[in-house]
Amino acid sequence: MFQCVQAQVENVAVTRYDNSLEIFHPIRATAGMVASEQGLASQVGADILSQGGNAVDAAVAVGFALAVVLPNAGNLGGGGFMLVRDAKSASTLALDFRETAPSAATREMFLDHRGEVIAGKSTRTPYSVGVPGTVAGLIFAAQQYGSMPLERLLAPAIKLAESGFIVSPVLAQQFSLQRAHLERWPSTKEVFFKRKPEAPDCIVSECPTSSLITYSAGERLSQPDLARTLRTIATHGSDGFYKGTVAQNIVDTLAGASRPMSLQDLEQYRVSKRVPAKGLYRGYEILSMPAPSSGGVHLIQMLNILERYPLAQYGAGSAQTIHLIAESARLAYADRAEHLGDPDFVKVPERGLTSKKYADRLAENIQLQLITPSTQVIAGRANDFESEQTTHFSIMDKFGNVVSTTYTLNLNFGSGIVARGTGVLLNNEMDDFSAKPGAPNAFGLLGGIANAIEPGKRPLSSMTPVIVLKDGQPWLATGTPGGARIITTVLQTILNTIDFKMNIAEALSMPRVHHQWMPDFLRIERGISPDTIRLLKDKGHEVRVMPTMGRVQTVQQQGQVFFGASDPRNPDGAAIGIESIQ
Ligand code: DON
Repeated sequence: MFQCVQAQVENVAVTRYDNSLEIFHPIRATAGMVASEQGLASQVGADILSQGGNAVDAAVAVGFALAVVLPNAGNLGGGGFMLVRDAKSASTLALDFRETAPSAATREMFLDHRGEVIAGKSTRTPYSVGVPGTVAGLIFAAQQYGSMPLERLLAPAIKLAESGFIVSPVLAQQFSLQRAHLERWPSTKEVFFKRKPEAPDCIVSECPTSSLITYSAGERLSQPDLARTLRTIATHGSDGFYKGTVAQNIVDTLAGASRPMSLQDLEQYRVSKRVPAKGLYRGYEILSMPAPSSGGVHLIQMLNILERYPLAQYGAGSAQTIHLIAESARLAYADRAEHLGDPDFVKVPERGLTSKKYADRLAENIQLQLITPSTQVIAGRANDFESEQTTHFSIMDKFGNVVSTTYTLNLNFGSGIVARGTGVLLNNEMDDFSAKPGAPNAFGLLGGIANAIEPGKRPLSSMTPVIVLKDGQPWLATGTPGGARIITTVLQTILNTIDFKMNIAEALSMPRVHHQWMPDFLRIERGISPDTIRLLKDKGHEVRVMPTMGRVQTVQQQGQVFFGASDPRNPDGAAIGIESIQ
């Protein structure tokens, strides 16, 4: 009861108890919380917490489990970022396990002889695959911060792969929508397709596609090859993936006319420990991912700009607030294209981009009543791409540790290529490089020399795992998939909780908006009122209502109480809390 009173005093909108102002309510628990895009994986994390594991143990187990139960985004064959708040040292580390360009990669590898981008080469071919970092990242985290043996952390994923799990309507729809993408590779057919009962007998990997069907909702999907790979990792650690049979199978599957990836590329993959990007927003400490993600830097840059305005007074969802979000995003994304890349290869002016003074300067360009057309910010062009195929999970434990992880295969099911005999789907992260200055990637994002391809370099990302501290204590962990829209989605989650004092379930449920400088239009979700849209148009915005954005997974701590919320845009997600430790 005491916590309840305290929460009410601190912040009206975070009172969870019989608060008649609130429409949406987060999950509540007292001993830890996990939020992920797949309830089965959240349960794995919650089980590890209740067995006495810490947030990192749970995160590692969730990361491996998602590779099984969320095959279009969870992964072993991709890469990502993990923020770890370590209670003991009261410090936060940013773990970078982003994919790297293989040693055979060249700056022009996606261009034809005329210097034009070859459509699909960076997304749908063996050349699209970056050297995966996920397994190294998860194992590094377990070794540095975990408290349980690897076998125990991998056991739930192995079980889910071996015994199978029930395919949800959401996943069944993904299989069906991505059918053409997946059926091009025999090794992928073997994992995600079944022979039609009436079709002539054939081995699935060799069957004509007309004889195959994808898994339907309610059917059980087992992945025995993936189970074997997970077992090998449980026994041999990183070496089980980066050396030996699994590595050989990855290299051989990709090899055709040339060898886009070598055994040495895999063997030499290294996780990078980085210092988080840091900002201060209305007294809250914002910790997020530095380059090679653009996420943390531009999140903080936009917050710095927005801090100058009385958003709480303008109101959530008001035309004025949306306009300011759009105008600050326009400025930030223009900088993204110019300045951001792998800091091991290029100088990224992170301090400048995240400084309050720079935000002051940028804000001088913002007009309250009118847009500044993107062509006047800087020239460019871009297209657009639909899908939310990265994934995020947030975890807090009773001991004060926090994990915020976003990892990805890039597009839906990555390259679509399963490494033969391993069950491991491989990413197409090479598309996140700038194939050529001024040529948009799959998300319509532009880039320049800073993000040009070089062997060993990490492609620029938008992934934005965040941990927010209040009075030096963990307060919020959040993040989302959504490609270019990740940064603005996370931004709005933070504004909703800090400025508009929403509880985290409400913060996730609000309609979202997005602007990314180029293309120059304001994307909105359904749910913004017609008169708000009219006001935005009056300011000069081209407004387009488009599919939903983001699948945010948030956990929060207030005193001794944990709250969790999984974005209602994905019905498969779940926040699961625990009440005690066994
Ligand atoms: O790292 C990035 O920014 C992208 N590869 C993320 C891709 C993504 O979020 C896909 N889902 N929409």
